Order: sequence, then structure tokens, then C-alpha cells
Amino acid sequence: MKVYRSKVLLRKDVGLLKRKGRVIGLVPTMGFLHEGHLSLIRKARKDSDCVVVSIFVNPAQFGPKEDFKKYPRDLKKDLALCQCSGVDMVFVPDLKSMYPEGFSAYVNVEGLTKGLCGASRPWHFRGVTTIVTKLFNIVSPDIAYFGQKDAQQAVVIKKMARDLDMPVRIKVMPIARERDGLAMSSRNAYLNPAERSQAPALYKSLRLARDLYKRKERDPEKIIAGMRKLIEREKHARIEYISIVDPETLVGVKRISGKTLVALAVRIGKTRLIDNVVLN
Ligand code: PAF
Repeated sequence: MKVYRSKVLLRKDVGLLKRKGRVIGLVPTMGFLHEGHLSLIRKARKDSDCVVVSIFVNPAQFGPKEDFKKYPRDLKKDLALCQCSGVDMVFVPDLKSMYPEGFSAYVNVEGLTKGLCGASRPWHFRGVTTIVTKLFNIVSPDIAYFGQKDAQQAVVIKKMARDLDMPVRIKVMPIARERDGLAMSSRNAYLNPAERSQAPALYKSLRLARDLYKRKERDPEKIIAGMRKLIEREKHARIEYISIVDPETLVGVKRISGKTLVALAVRIGKTRLIDNVVLN
């Protein structure tokens, strides 16, 4: 496994492999790797000849009052996990090389980024699509892997790649969960024991949504009301949104018919958690 700080060297080495016809798989991350990331790496390992993992906490996707500075970081452990998982190249750029002085070009996907998480984090997806574009330009992957936990991010990135004719396939992998159902996330590390014990309420509410759907409930308002009630039982929980939307357009549905995304963001104490399920 080779660790690259320089985008020039990485691009050169990937270029050599591409000219030999090798398939390049990219797993973009912000580090503090967990089983969710490792499942993406395993899939990339199966699909590609060369697996590249990027580790970069991207300031452009954090708001001014958000957790960029305290976002959990553990490069040593991340590199050990990459090594054990058969990663070929790890790209760990520094801030200055990704956002040099005077940086002013951004990539934005309109429409899809307005609702759900975009409503409370209006700058967020522009930061994500900009850094992912930069990573695609540096690594030129054939396939790039993202987690379904960030359902809106996955839809936005697919739309970006399609609309801008980026020559990359986007693969979205299922959510990795703790034993009690909590979706794996680097931000789970912020939860104190009392908060941690209440955090599974997100997934419990999504399971309730699935049960109600199985019992033929098709009114999103009724499902949302049930989910709300369940989450509001937890004293550290504050619901930001619960939405039932079309999984491609992310527009709210009036009645559930066909594939539908149930997505939510909830603060547990100060920690903002997201999760979702797809009803089918
Ligand atoms: O999902 C993430 O960890 C980040 O949003 C990503 C895709 C690595 C971009 O910084």
C-alpha cells in the first residue's frame, strides 16, 4: 500500500495503471474509518484492480458553526485499516493543495440539494460535489463508492456525474449498522453514554415506518406522525426533519406507491444524525 500526499504523484501512478487497462475503484472518505467504509472498500476490492481510498476532511462541506475543527481524526488507525483491507493507494492531501489561496470554482447540483439536509445545511452539498469532482479529476476512477446512509448525497453525486458526463460509475452500498440498529457514522463518536442509548430511536422509527407500510399504510403523514411520536419519547432527541420522498427526485410524495425513501435527521444532544430506509 502506498500513501500519497501529492496529487501530482498519485495522478501519475494511477495514469500508468489506466494505460495498462486496469480498473480503478475510488472510495472517498473523511477518515475515522468504520465498518461502513470498510464495506465500500471490500466491494471496491472485488470490482477493481486498484483500490484508492481518499482521506480528507473537507472544510467546504461544513458550515461556519459546524464541527470541521473537532471532526474525529485518526490517520494512523485509518492507514492500518486500509492496509488490512487490501487498499492499494491512500490519498491524504493537505488543505492547501486541495484549496489553494484564491480558490473560487465550485460545482453545484441544483434542485436536489434544496430539501432534506440541504434545508438546514445550504452550503453542504456544494462542498461535497466540489470535492468529489476534484477527487474524480485527480484519481480518474472507473467506479466510485458511496454509502446509502447519506442517501441525498448519493442521489446528488449520481446526478452530478450524469449531468456533467463524468466517465465514472457510481455505486451505492447498503447502510452498515451497529447491533442495536444505529447507522454507523464517524459522528457517533460524539455521543455520550446517555445519548448513545437513545440514538437507536432513529432506526426504530424507520422500522416502524417499514412495518406500517407492510400493514398497507400508504399515507406519509400517518407514518411520519408515528415516527415522530416514537423519537420524541427520547429526551435528548430533537427532530430536524422526517421526510417521505421519491428516491430519485427527493420530492415529497402525497401517497406511497412504488419505491419510496423515508429519510430523517435528528439531533441527539448536540450531535446531528441521519438515517433512512427505502420502502419497496
Ligand atoms: O461521505 C463523506 O464522507 C463525504 O461527504 C465525502 C463523499 C468523502 C466528501 O467529502
